[in-house]
Amino acid sequence: MKSFVCQVCNHIAFDEAPVDCPVCGSAIENFEKDDEAIQSPADPGNLLETDNMHIPVIKINTGCSGDHDNTCTSIFIKVGEIEHVMETEHLIEFIDLYINKKYFSRVLFTAKKIHPEATLRISDTSGTLSVIAYCNTHGSWRTKIKLDE
Ligand SMILES: [Fe+2]
Repeated sequence: MKSFVCQVCNHIAFDEAPVDCPVCGSAIENFEKDDEAIQSPADPGNLLETDNMHIPVIKINTGCSGDHDNTCTSIFIKVGEIEHVMETEHLIEFIDLYINKKYFSRVLFTAKKIHPEATLRISDTSGTLSVIAYCNTHGSWRTKIKLDE
């Protein structure tokens, strides 16, 4: 997949580089094309421990317990199936979220005090949600899921 990486904040944009980075505001010159920016398991049918520590796990709940009428989806994300370590020299720094390849939010993490997990309530109820987890040692890992299935 065509992807462009912000050299300032490691945000990944798809299809084309944005005029300004939607996360850190850097100019388009700071984006480098890298179609291999997202790591993928060597064998998707037989995941290794490294894969299971980085691939985001997404759980979807349609509706938000009666709030927001029918314009809300509750999403829970954790990185990964085996919880990743959160030490300064090796941690999940952030997750970036996209609907239909369009970025809409970043959740930042810090070392030691936090699990690499987030619960968010979003106003979209359809489309494909992508979550990219960024490890400062092992790079970017992605999971995609359809909201309305
Ligand atoms: Fe890692």
